[in-house]
Amino acid sequence: MSQPPMSKSGAPLDVMGSLRRSHHCGDVMKAAVGDEVILAGWVGRRRDHGGVIFVDLRDRTGIVQVVFRPESAPEAHTRAHHLRSEWVLMIRGEVESRSEETINPNMPTGTIEVNVRELRILNSASVPPFAIEEETDVDEQIRLRHRLHDLRRPPLQRALQIRHDLARAVRESLSDQDFLEIETPMLARATPEGARDFLVPSRLQPGEFYALPQSPQIMKQLFMIGGCDRYYQIARCFRDEDLRADRQLEFTQIDLELSFVGVEEILTVLERVMVEGCRACGVELEAPFKRITWTEAMSRFGCDKPDTRIQLELVELTDVFMTSEFKAFRGVAEAGGIVKALPIANAKELSRGEIDRLEKLVRKELGAKGLGWIRVEDDGTWKSPITKFLGEPELAAIRERCKTEPGMVIFFQADVAARANTVLSRLREDLGRRLGRVDGREWDPLLVIDFPLLEDDGEGGLTHVHQPFVAPVEEDLALLDTEPEKVRGTHYDVVLNGVELGSGSLRNHRSDIQRKILSIMGYSDAEMEASFGFLINALDVGAPPHGGFAFGFDRWVMTLARTDNLRDVIAFPKTQRGQDLLMEAPSAVDAEQLDELSLRIRAQPKSD
Ligand code: AMO
Ligand code: AMP
Repeated sequence: MSQPPMSKSGAPLDVMGSLRRSHHCGDVMKAAVGDEVILAGWVGRRRDHGGVIFVDLRDRTGIVQVVFRPESAPEAHTRAHHLRSEWVLMIRGEVESRSEETINPNMPTGTIEVNVRELRILNSASVPPFAIEEETDVDEQIRLRHRLHDLRRPPLQRALQIRHDLARAVRESLSDQDFLEIETPMLARATPEGARDFLVPSRLQPGEFYALPQSPQIMKQLFMIGGCDRYYQIARCFRDEDLRADRQLEFTQIDLELSFVGVEEILTVLERVMVEGCRACGVELEAPFKRITWTEAMSRFGCDKPDTRIQLELVELTDVFMTSEFKAFRGVAEAGGIVKALPIANAKELSRGEIDRLEKLVRKELGAKGLGWIRVEDDGTWKSPITKFLGEPELAAIRERCKTEPGMVIFFQADVAARANTVLSRLREDLGRRLGRVDGREWDPLLVIDFPLLEDDGEGGLTHVHQPFVAPVEEDLALLDTEPEKVRGTHYDVVLNGVELGSGSLRNHRSDIQRKILSIMGYSDAEMEASFGFLINALDVGAPPHGGFAFGFDRWVMTLARTDNLRDVIAFPKTQRGQDLLMEAPSAVDAEQLDELSLRIRAQPKSD
């Protein structure tokens, strides 16, 4: 004798049978009042109003109120007493207008409800760990552990929708621009993107490893050499680096490469993809995008991905301090460092205590040597811990370049360029937001061009700024032999609202130039051969001039979803410690698997 399947609370479970959904919950408005609808979804809130039971029924598209009335459907009403949060239902009922006083203006379906005639309980559910609601203050670790419940929340559903809409629009845009979508292998060879590789042991070649690609960089260059002309791919990339809110161990790039083009053609493609991609997600971008050289971005904003909506700019003062009596600043200027200021008008609310707190913060978090400042009082006098060290030429330059006025606060940094810029750029963005200096524009794309090709590697040598295959700007080729640190690369970035969405460049298609750059970076011929031999040799089989770009797809979605955390827009992200809390990865494997791979685990000191 078979019993009907029972829910945990004793209500018998039903089957869908031949009942089929007529509408999604959020779309019930498309039916007319009086129409019969069949809906399916999860139980959100349930309210028992002495006799009448109200249930918020939820699916991907939204929530609709369904009502169980004893007089119109006595059986369904009786069984509705069993319903609990997150149970799975199908209902058949009639769309009814709500009376004036019961209309819910906060709900898209708030003017109607569905009077249930028939209830099918398709599944019961364990008690959810938290309420499935738009806003939540539940700790992120708990949400990640219970990601299935979290995924049912509207913000995540919206993020997944944006991912879909964006991917689809990008595919269409690139197909329309004659790109071929071509896949590249996941089990590959280490590529020099700069992060640590994820390695995969080979069973068939004991002791050898594949590397998961940090990006398809080399492979897409091989496609160009292989005559594919225009390639793109929505590609998964793996980088074993320290995680931050805008970095994941595995992430997705919209990766592309083109042959027989210069920088301009690539930027035109990018702009079109950006505009069409954003448009599909309801965001209009103004094209052509603003452009700025890397040098100008560093000078005016102190960073290469400025949020240009913030109406604050840095001021250069290095030249003025070359001859100053103020030793702390002059010493830095003479030693090749820089002196810069960040003037902020109408900043009276930055109290002395607040400025001291900022100084502590930049010292601790960014390694600043100090934080000089001047406050211009209402009567025009200056309060400052540094003016007593300054002579008239410096004071005059500050007055003129910072356009001092009552209510202004000016911050100063004297340091090596990288740190001085980092500190002032951080203050610019933090204070700009806090003091409301963001202009009205919601979306502000920016192309940053002419990055330097090489930079100091911190050990007296030079290393690549972007990646080792970037071609130099043609006019600067001769400088490779004389002043390589001055050579501009063809590298460009796309920035949207202060987020680096992507990077690209022209590549070296001639092996002699590629070899020269690698040797400037300190590679011997043998090291070149070992690390990049297969690419350099490939250049000699007739490589066309080529270049490309890669968008960080997740970052683009993150920006469109108006969050600053990649984990909000990735279905199953990793935590700061690289763990997937839902699947509990990474995990130990059994000895047999290790044996097959010829691996042995060294005893690990226990860490928590
Ligand atoms: P790059 O290393 O700059 O360039 O990567 C391109 C874009 O990918 C995104 N991105 C990331 N997103 C999430 N998590 C990460 N860990 C992460 N790392 C990078 C960023 C970045 O701008 N092959 C070159 C591109 C090229 O030259 O064509 C490359 O990979 O948005
Ligand atoms: P000191 O002479 O070290 O007492 O510094 C005087 C003021 O200048 C203090 O407010 C310091 O925070 C600031 N200051 C010192 N060195 C630097 C620097 N390298 N950059 C910016 N401000 C500094």
